[in-house]
Amino acid sequence: NETDKAYLLNSIRDIEDFPKPGIIFKDITTLLGDEKAFNFLLDHLSTRYENQEIDYIAGIESRGFIFGAALAARLRKRFVPIRKPGKLPYTTISEKYSLEYGVDEVAIHIDAFSSLGTHKPKVLLIDDLIATGGTATAAVKLINKAGAHCIEACFIINLTFLQGDLDIKKTTPVYSVLEV
Ligand code: PRP
Ligand code: MG
Repeated sequence: NETDKAYLLNSIRDIEDFPKPGIIFKDITTLLGDEKAFNFLLDHLSTRYENQEIDYIAGIESRGFIFGAALAARLRKRFVPIRKPGKLPYTTISEKYSLEYGVDEVAIHIDAFSSLGTHKPKVLLIDDLIATGGTATAAVKLINKAGAHCIEACFIINLTFLQGDLDIKKTTPVYSVLEV
């Protein structure tokens, strides 16, 4: 409910001028350090996803690993890491995306979503936060490139003023627990 959501939002600490002047950083370590907030979040996400057809939960390095893996364990689903380049040891596929200055890349093991018989694997994508949307848009493309279907992209916080979800929404539903 809304009281719990307000509690969850309050458990996230704002750090001014980090990592650069003018940026307000959303510090989720204070959420993780509050068992009531962390548990409410996992209960909320479990309720949303427990009756949906999901084969895999994919989390984006590194903060998406924390929430994605915790939810996967609760829902008894498989977990797949989407990593920064050069980290995964086996054959990978990757997707580049542009930043304000330069490019970045996300990578996944080529066999991350191994065949499940006839149906295309259904994947729930999780990250802690969507800002410009560059990372998550690339991650959705990567999931599809890997032969799976991203059923939804889920974020704990959406910085809505940046409208980072616009591109993803053209192809994939987006759900954000909190909007600021
Ligand atoms: C942050 C955040 C998201 C991404 C959002 O991760 O956790 O993954 O940026 O930004 P975008 O919507 O503008 O792409 P970061 O790259 O700081 O790495 P971390 O998760 O390892 O801390
Ligand atoms: Mg991140």
